Amino acid sequence: MSNRINEIKKRRTFAIISHPDAGKTTLTEKFLLYGGAINQAGSVKGKATAKHAVSDWMEIEKERGISVTSSVLQFNYDDYCINILDTPGHQDFSEDTYRTLMAADSAVMVIDASKGVEAQTRKLFKVCVMRHIPIFTFINKMDREARDTFELLDDIEKELGIATCPINWPIGSGKEFKGVFDREHREIELFSDTKKGTSIGEVKKVALNDPCVETLISEDQRMQLEEEIELLDGASAEFDQELVNKGELSPVFFGSALTNFGVETFLQHFLAMTSSPLPRKSDEGEIDPIKEEDFSAFVFKIQANMNKAHRDRIAFMRICSGEFDAGMEVFHIQGGKKVRLSQPQQMMASERKMVEKAYGGDIIGVFDPGIFSIGDTLTTSPRKFAYEGIPTFAPEHFARVRQVDTMKRKQFIKGINQIAQEGAIQIFQEYNTGMEEIIVGVVGELQFDVLKYRLENEYNVEIRMERLPYEHIRWIENEELDLDRLVGTSDMKKIKDLKDRPLLLFVHSWSIRMTEERNEGLKLSEFGRS
Ligand code: G4P
Repeated sequence: MSNRINEIKKRRTFAIISHPDAGKTTLTEKFLLYGGAINQAGSVKGKATAKHAVSDWMEIEKERGISVTSSVLQFNYDDYCINILDTPGHQDFSEDTYRTLMAADSAVMVIDASKGVEAQTRKLFKVCVMRHIPIFTFINKMDREARDTFELLDDIEKELGIATCPINWPIGSGKEFKGVFDREHREIELFSDTKKGTSIGEVKKVALNDPCVETLISEDQRMQLEEEIELLDGASAEFDQELVNKGELSPVFFGSALTNFGVETFLQHFLAMTSSPLPRKSDEGEIDPIKEEDFSAFVFKIQANMNKAHRDRIAFMRICSGEFDAGMEVFHIQGGKKVRLSQPQQMMASERKMVEKAYGGDIIGVFDPGIFSIGDTLTTSPRKFAYEGIPTFAPEHFARVRQVDTMKRKQFIKGINQIAQEGAIQIFQEYNTGMEEIIVGVVGELQFDVLKYRLENEYNVEIRMERLPYEHIRWIENEELDLDRLVGTSDMKKIKDLKDRPLLLFVHSWSIRMTEERNEGLKLSEFGRS
């Protein structure tokens, strides 16, 4: 096997999705601990101030103590080379969070055992489903009082519409949490002291029918476990790798990231069940990273430099095939010319470093003099194929934006267009009027602040924003539709994008269904074509 193929087969590139506080950062840190990338848990994140140390890149992030960018971490575990894509949450939730999922081959969904499926997980999950990527569930915080295990699985199945297959099963929760039962090997995994999770600890395994089980878990717990396993063996879906690959069945694991219960077990199973970099669709058919020797990549995120003195940007790309060498020349399909990829960077464990070499499955950030757009393809292949574009994700907050000084119209238009091109915001216009009114849509409210800050600091334009009440946007899939004859609801507004494609805004979610019902054949979509 060539070195290239060998390297690609080692790659596992995945995103972690969760609602804030479910334990995504803690779990990531424990992965690094097991991978040997850090010596002691707590060094990546511990104190609130150091919380975003890993991904704090830009001035604005430091100023606010939040992370605007989503970062990528690379480390090794066993024979695997792992790329974890972080999906930022809270106020810094943005369209980038969604786009990050376009670069992943699978997703790990972290759920708080006391809460079940929460809003942000639901949103990110939809994107995973659209892409049909495998989704693995880690039910976290079992060391706290948890909801009933069956109820939690039911919640995932009903809320998200995906079948679940528990690979292990928790024994107790909170103070009574004893470990997990491995269904395949019919043994109990007990964890030794991990010094509150700072050290790896040893996993002790005991067969369920071993007499010493009596001394390890209470009689009640053993009986409950046996009952639950019986129920589970009869009722739950069987593990089926095919269904997992298609994103239709989610293997479920239980544990406690904080104390390391179940973390390594999860990591090992997950790495074996998830695949190495997958083929991607292009206008020349699927590009298989194993067969395609030439380098190819697509841009999924553009990060502007917040430093006024450097108006450059970093374009993040997912390498889909071949090898990358620092400074190599590649063909930029959308730009129609050759470019040199300079200053390539990668995140290794907790620091940013220059990369000399990277392979299919890896994520790199390169210096962008302002030529790349989201979804662009770069390749050394003579076939000059282009990867399928990245969809536009539905913004949830809208505002009418104008410049305060009418003399600055030109800078305003230039700035707002550039920021939109980077994918930080989406811009729309009134349906029937010209360019006068600009409507900005954002996925996370913080993007409004970023927009204001950047227009003032980089383009010297002060703006006024008038928030609009709409929360839902839908793209119209049937383009032939006569929009003037559309029967809408009173809370609906027609707008258009810069390519003159019509869209609908709604205040209430129920109006979307109603509008679809009132107009036969109308097809509305949550994802737009870029
Ligand atoms: P996030 O990235 O998904 O937002 O969550 P994060 O890992 O930051 O975890 C959120 C809080 O939950 C943290 O507590 C963290 O220590 C705690 N936590 C994570 N996993 C577990 C677990 O398995 N069991 C328990 N009991 N707690 C867990 P914090 O007090 O907000 O932060 P810190 O002071 O510990 O840094």
